[in-house]
Amino acid sequence: MSNPNGSIVVVRGPEEMAAAAADLILAAAGEAIQGRGRFNIALAGGSTPESAYGLLTQPPRRDRANWSRWHVFFGDDRFVPHDDSRSNYAMAKRSLFDHVPIPAGQIHAIPTDQPTPGLAAAAYARTLADAFDVNVTGPPPRFDLILLGMGDDGHTASLFPGKMALNESGAWVTWCPPGSLPPPVDRVTFTFPTINAARRVLFLVGGAKKAEVLREVLEGATPVS
Ligand code: 6PG
Repeated sequence: MSNPNGSIVVVRGPEEMAAAAADLILAAAGEAIQGRGRFNIALAGGSTPESAYGLLTQPPRRDRANWSRWHVFFGDDRFVPHDDSRSNYAMAKRSLFDHVPIPAGQIHAIPTDQPTPGLAAAAYARTLADAFDVNVTGPPPRFDLILLGMGDDGHTASLFPGKMALNESGAWVTWCPPGSLPPPVDRVTFTFPTINAARRVLFLVGGAKKAEVLREVLEGATPVS
């Protein structure tokens, strides 16, 4: 995982990673709220971030957060109903939203009830524009923190290797057909411009299976896709 100044933090195992991630999230939240009155965070899916969300719901961390100032978005989601077990929103609701008092109007799920993932992506871009009070045709909104995982294939968010979504340079949000990793469903995902516009990006990467592809990514042999 990386910390705010763009370096790499190596921890012993998943428990330590979840704790370090939870503390980095709280630090970013405190800085954003103190400086700008609100905290705009985009959550990631996958098993790695889920543990960090759970730690945020427990004392002492729970009591350190000013939840009323949190505005929560999603860097990607599977194009499935929000009550589907594969939904990143469902995971965040189960592990975080059901346990802390973030105002419901400040939780912005990707609208996977749209007819197509492309329409969902366009609708979510409008949601971002409204929430950040910016023009949807302008530069991407600047998140205080975007959480990201990395798959065994080097993907992040739902930007899978070899897919057209990687080349999207205008839209803030796009859609992507399934990659090689499960679940085999269409996705809606931030594009690289939106990710790169963030004040901070925190990649949570763990497990021996990812070591080789992470090395390649860090050494520039294989771009995060
Ligand atoms: C998703 C995630 C995806 C995830 C990585 C890592 O929708 O699945 O956004 O990018 O973060 O696949 O997942 P794990 O942490 O479970 O390995």
